[in-house]
Amino acid sequence: MRPAIASISLENLAHNYHVLCEKSGNAEVMAVVKANAYGHGISLIAPCLYEQACRSFAVTDAKEGVQLRQLLGKDVQITLLSGVFDGEDAKLSVQYHLTPVLTEIWQAECLQKEGFESSIWLKVDTGMNRLGCMDWQALKQKCEQFNIDVMGIMSHLACADTPDHPLNQQQLQIFQTMVSGLPQGMRASLLNSAGIAAMSEACFDVVRPGLALYGIEPMENKSMGLKPVMTLKARVMQIRDVLQGESISYGASYIVDAAMKVAVVSMGYGDGLPRDLSNQGAAFHGQDKLPMIGRVCMDYCLLDCSDSGIQAGEEVMFWGERHTVSCVAQELNTIPYTLTTGIQPRVKREKA
Ligand SMILES: Cc1ncc(COP(=O)(O)O)c(C=O)c1O
Repeated sequence: MRPAIASISLENLAHNYHVLCEKSGNAEVMAVVKANAYGHGISLIAPCLYEQACRSFAVTDAKEGVQLRQLLGKDVQITLLSGVFDGEDAKLSVQYHLTPVLTEIWQAECLQKEGFESSIWLKVDTGMNRLGCMDWQALKQKCEQFNIDVMGIMSHLACADTPDHPLNQQQLQIFQTMVSGLPQGMRASLLNSAGIAAMSEACFDVVRPGLALYGIEPMENKSMGLKPVMTLKARVMQIRDVLQGESISYGASYIVDAAMKVAVVSMGYGDGLPRDLSNQGAAFHGQDKLPMIGRVCMDYCLLDCSDSGIQAGEEVMFWGERHTVSCVAQELNTIPYTLTTGIQPRVKREKA
């Protein structure tokens, strides 16, 4: 089997889940496992969280919700953060007892047509100007007319990872005002991972961490003591001696200065290894840092291993404990979310 592997530490996942529970006080932790658990592999992640007593999960849509229901069985709540897109999603929500988050009256109508009489959340906008009801009271009334139980309101912070940004306090105040008018029993949810790290006093009833579960610190300077869940690794297929003046990989973008050893490694952009790492990334073998040279190919990348004792058949890692995915993201001027969700299905997710 092709040795391109995302090794998943369930021990670290459990640790992170408990850190988040503790940080969130009495609020319930709704584990955000959309997009294949941020690329980590839902079929490993969700059962492990369940074993840790997590009973509330969020995915993006009904398709992901059905997959999760089939994995975990009946006694978990599965929230669809993107609500329902059409009648088919509404039908699945009834059949698999899913809990959509609604923003529009047409979504409530879709649900009613399919005989949905269970619970939903309302998404309210408090300043991010992404999805959110324009008139949540009207939507709430409509749901009640349809016998749909409105279990709570949720909103999302635009700048949670920048705690000093004034929008955080503005959004919090707007949300607090909405919450103060809620009937008894209705729940409120505002915070994602960065929100939990930065303003845990605003946990309300339910928090919705994604990133932090996977051991990625949402804020550099406010560590929560999380542990990385994914180690991305691959195997050295061959070690080549390359002579001065020769070039490496497509486009001959790297010219060899002095004779060197080059490791050919079984991971490329077809696996989700960013092509932007060409000539600027690195991989790690024990304490050795092996610079990435030449262009990343679809199935391979190339490393300068002149100063390392690494042998063909050994593994290197691209991110994990030794070099976090956040560091790689920073080097690439992106965010860790894009890197882990970019890991392709052909990369094997296996228990560490
Ligand atoms: C509505 C909502 N809640 C919670 C989350 C989880 O955010 P994070 O991964 O930053 O914790 C997301 C992520 O995209 C989201 O869209």
